[in-house]
Amino acid sequence: MSVVSTVKKGRVFSGARPTGRQHLGNYLGAIKNYVALQDEYDCVYCIVDLHALTTMETTENLRQNTYEMALDWLAAGIRPQESIMMIQSHILEVTELHVILSMVTPQGKLTDLPTFKEKVRQQPHNVNYGLVGYPVLMAADIVLYKSNAVPVGVDQQPHLEFTREVVRSFNYRFKTNVLIEPEMKATEFPKVLCIDGVQKMSKSLNNHIELAATPEETQQRVMQMVTDPARMRRTDPGNPDVCNVFTLHKYFSSAEEVAHINIECRRAGIGCVDCKKILAKNLNAHLSDFRERRAKLDKTPDMVWDILHDGASRAKVIAKATMAEVHAAIGLP
Ligand code: TRP
Repeated sequence: MSVVSTVKKGRVFSGARPTGRQHLGNYLGAIKNYVALQDEYDCVYCIVDLHALTTMETTENLRQNTYEMALDWLAAGIRPQESIMMIQSHILEVTELHVILSMVTPQGKLTDLPTFKEKVRQQPHNVNYGLVGYPVLMAADIVLYKSNAVPVGVDQQPHLEFTREVVRSFNYRFKTNVLIEPEMKATEFPKVLCIDGVQKMSKSLNNHIELAATPEETQQRVMQMVTDPARMRRTDPGNPDVCNVFTLHKYFSSAEEVAHINIECRRAGIGCVDCKKILAKNLNAHLSDFRERRAKLDKTPDMVWDILHDGASRAKVIAKATMAEVHAAIGLP
């Protein structure tokens, strides 16, 4: 399999921290898009285990979480012969490029980033140096593979802007054009997605629905979902526009069902319980092939690790070539 495709539009790179089994939020916000982009781009998808260390209290689940996430990506349709799927720490070059890019990064720019300030609020007891450099490592991820486009959620916009700036600083400082400024491909992301109807779906808040859950677990979680809070009694009319069950219907139910619920909810023709039952049924139908593929892959864990190692060796070819150019541009002896 050749590393560089000549027919595709360019290279896409994206990374995600190894959070283990993926949930519906990950699927709609990232994975679905990763899969679709393979048709048009040369894709590199990276499990960013080093980034994970910036916030992790313990590493005991790191390996298992990496494996579970890889399983989800593969079962969802990442094609490992065509795309590169790998683990960040398998490519040493990324850490070298991190160091080099840090030399053209004003420290104040990093500590001013809203994403950094947010982390300081979240973990005041652990404001580590790696956290400050998080965007530099992310920039290194992206530019090491000469990526043209980066699909990420809008929360990552400051990091993408930073990446573009650091590329310009590097190229200007060393009078070169070896690094490429990537474009951000913002992914649409339904805002309210969790069971409590308030926060973003997230594993740490345990308000999520895992792709790999059993049909029964899925049903149970869906039945717990908070709907339009104004709809206290069965006879109260609801507003689907503010209901996160309806948001999910838009992704997983047929156009007819969506239209039907949209009308019936507003005139209390359908109750929340029935509405959720339909969603659970459709979700389970939608995920059934995925779950079958995942269970099959899970029977051969060695093959999954081989895929990740093979991805790393193909990524290394690109990484080495970029680093040779970077060394030459800087004039490292
Ligand atoms: N910061 C990203 C996130 O939390 C993860 C990430 C690391 C990433 N490196 C990347 C995303 C490179 C895109 C490209 O979602």
